[in-house]
This record gives sequence, structure tokens and C-alpha cells, in this order.
Amino acid sequence: WLAACSKQEPAAPAAAPAAAPAKVYVVGTDAAYAPFESQNERGEIVGFDIEVVSAIAAKAGIEVRFVNTPWEGIFNSLAQGDRDLLVSAITITEERRQSMDFTAPYFDAVQLIAVRQNSPVTKFEDLKTLKVGVQTGTTGDEVVTQLLGKDNTNVRRFESTPLALKELESGGVDAVVADNGVVNHYVANNSTAAFKTVSDTSFEPEQYGIAVRKGNTELLDKLNQGLAAIRADGTYDAIYTKYFGA
Ligand code: ARG
Repeated sequence: WLAACSKQEPAAPAAAPAAAPAKVYVVGTDAAYAPFESQNERGEIVGFDIEVVSAIAAKAGIEVRFVNTPWEGIFNSLAQGDRDLLVSAITITEERRQSMDFTAPYFDAVQLIAVRQNSPVTKFEDLKTLKVGVQTGTTGDEVVTQLLGKDNTNVRRFESTPLALKELESGGVDAVVADNGVVNHYVANNSTAAFKTVSDTSFEPEQYGIAVRKGNTELLDKLNQGLAAIRADGTYDAIYTKYFGA
């Protein structure tokens, strides 16, 4: 059988194709963050971020493919080259700027507290002695960890924001702190959850950016130009209105 095997060596391709196929940029997104990114009934990744990046790509003349990527590994997936860019309602922070580059901001956000309707909580400080759910490694995690203390077991960390909100519904935590857009969307679309929201002026304003590998100025420039173009021609506003109203 050795002889038979040796015959199966595949022939080397005769010549390289004339033109390399257009590069498809792989976009990482944690698609459990409606209305920014989620999966519809057909398993397609949809949402505000998806439409913004698709519109940017169209202007920039690049092709993109969205790949669902768990938040906990999302920054590594970029650093290691498995993803070329990330859009995932990512807050631009000084710390993250050390290890990746961000486009100009494309969305303003702020932390918002979700509690059950009968909760006595009226301000962020009130969470100090309560069990608080957050998504691991988010800016919500950061502010809650700061308020309750690093080793406080009352900080309950979840792999996704919907999991934290489910836990609030079942009574496992007393509050959830997450981005306002996501909390508001959840409260509006899950009437059985019987939540209310509590805002607090102590939360710093946040801005979302699209992330690329540090030093990937070629892609960063394309994205920034595309973003400027969709802002200028009304495309951005149309997408914004579709998801958040006028
Ligand atoms: N804006 C927050 C942060 O950057 C939360 C983002 C979470 N995004 C997501 N798709 N799960 O930390």
C-alpha cells in the first residue's frame, strides 16, 4: 500500500492566481448585547453596531464579516490576529488604549442601574451593601468593583449582560449595572421582568469606539474616513433613529 499512497501526492498548483481575492476583514463582536449586537431567530448577527460598521465598510470600500466572539476573549482575539477589528459597544478607556487603537467615538453611553420595581435603591451608593451583577471585564464591572471593593463577594460577575439581568429577575442579585442603551432596551422588551432603572450623576460619560490592533493605521484610517462619511451624508443618523428614535 505504500506505493499506492505515494501516488496520492497532490500536484502543486501550476501558478498563483493573477489577482489575490479582496481581503475580508473579520469583525469580532459579543452578540449578546441588544440593541448593539445580538443574534436574530435565524442566527444572523444584527444590531446598531453591525449596521454602523457595515455602512462604514461600504464607504471605505472594504469587505467585512462579523464573527460572534465572547466578551471575555474579545481583546485577545484582536491582539492575536484572529479578528481584524472589534465592534462591541466598547468604551474607549485609557487602559484599553495602551493595547489597541480606537476610531473616533461613534456613540455616547453612561452606566445605568437596573433593579426590581419594589427596590428601595435610589442612587449608586445604595448598592454598597447589596449583591450587584455585572458583565465581567466591562466598565460596569469597573465602577461596581470600585464602589464595593476588589475582594467583595457581593460583586457577581457574569459572562454576558443578559445572564446578569436574568439573575436580577430571579432574585440572585439586587441590582445590575451596565450600559444605559442595553439596560433600557432590556427593560422595554422584558415586561415580565418588572424592572426599573436608576440613573446616577456620578457615572462618567463613556464613548464607544471601533478597535483595531495597535499600529494598524491603514485600517484605522479607512474606518475613520468611513465613519466621517456616514456622519456627513445622514447614514449614521438614519441608523441611529432606527434604533433609538429621533
Ligand atoms: N461599554 C462596556 C465596556 O466597554 C460594555 C461593553 C459590552 N459589550 C458587549 N457586546 N458585551 O466595557
